[in-house]
Amino acid sequence: MKTEQLVSTFIEYFEERAHRRIVGSTLLPPPGDPVLFTTSGMHPLTPYLEGRPHPLGRRLVNVQRCLRTTDLEEVGDATHLTVFEMLGTWSLGDYEGPLSLDWGYGLLTEGLGIDPGLLHATVFAGDSQIGPDTASLQLWQDRGVPVELTVEDNWWSNGPVGPCGPDSEIFLWSGDCPPESTPTRDDRWVEVWNHVMMTHRRLDEGSLVPLPQRNVDTGLGLERLASLLQGKSSVFECDVFDPWHRLVPTLWPLDEPSLRLVCDHLRSAIVVLGDGVRPANTGRGYVLRRLVRRVLTVLWRDDPSRGVDDLPVQLVEHTLDHFRQDMRPGDVLRLLLEEERRFRRLLERGRQVLARPRFQGRLTEEDFHYLHDTHGLPREMVTSLRQE
Ligand code: SER
Repeated sequence: MKTEQLVSTFIEYFEERAHRRIVGSTLLPPPGDPVLFTTSGMHPLTPYLEGRPHPLGRRLVNVQRCLRTTDLEEVGDATHLTVFEMLGTWSLGDYEGPLSLDWGYGLLTEGLGIDPGLLHATVFAGDSQIGPDTASLQLWQDRGVPVELTVEDNWWSNGPVGPCGPDSEIFLWSGDCPPESTPTRDDRWVEVWNHVMMTHRRLDEGSLVPLPQRNVDTGLGLERLASLLQGKSSVFECDVFDPWHRLVPTLWPLDEPSLRLVCDHLRSAIVVLGDGVRPANTGRGYVLRRLVRRVLTVLWRDDPSRGVDDLPVQLVEHTLDHFRQDMRPGDVLRLLLEEERRFRRLLERGRQVLARPRFQGRLTEEDFHYLHDTHGLPREMVTSLRQE
């Protein structure tokens, strides 16, 4: 099943259950939001989860592009991407968690043909403030799906304050043998769909209060489920990466982890540029800058003549089309190239400065500050230049 078809099956299934489709937002949260990028489908809906009536009603469905930098170090494994898409559904004070889970089970098994024997669920076990989620536990027991109870892993929040609640996660077995063990003990159980009973709000001083309405917020990782349905062993092999897989290895021979990082970060950088972010030393622009620099660092390890110049415009077009962004591909390439030149100049200057006698021994905190403030050399760059 192609990713596009998975999206339409999901949306139609929930439209048949009276959900209205909303248009996903860009990666940029509204002004005033302390978070740099949209990190999940619920993020742009926060005011409605907190009680403001949504113009399209109480049942919503969408596909939302998200960016997570918390997972940056995990990029390159089988399941993590920096920019990914999340299929989401919401009950804004309408139906409760068990119905959401039941529909989720129905879509996965009957709608998408997944063998129910390959599913595992996790459920909130309760802590000193909130009791166990017995309603979700009961639903899974009725459906014959094995359940693991956890505390921290089954409490979802989008940050230290704001809407949060217990969740029930659905895992799909990705191993070659029959399922064994449980999601927390065996990572062949891949989390595909999270159902959050968004019932509480965490206040600044850490206490929990009930939200004015009981919501359900669900998020399904599109590329993860697509790759499993397509029988692939990593998200990088699902169809959204087809042209990347075809073209990148012919440009730059890379080992598999480097290839994954390069594809992920370049594709993410294109989407971030397409949403209007420009490279900078702070905030969103710095995330973009780090993505590009990480790609170049990997490419230059074997051959410093490699660069963005080699990148075929089709990859940029494919990405902008996929995310329905109307920036011109040539402009994206120009900005990437400018950033590459800036990085080359900075590295050159860095090597010259670090060759000075003062920096030959162990560096002090004061040295790191001086190198950063006077020469624009971040600590991680200094460390890696000294290892050259
Ligand atoms: N907000 C939850 C998540 O991101 C479910 O959508 O996992």
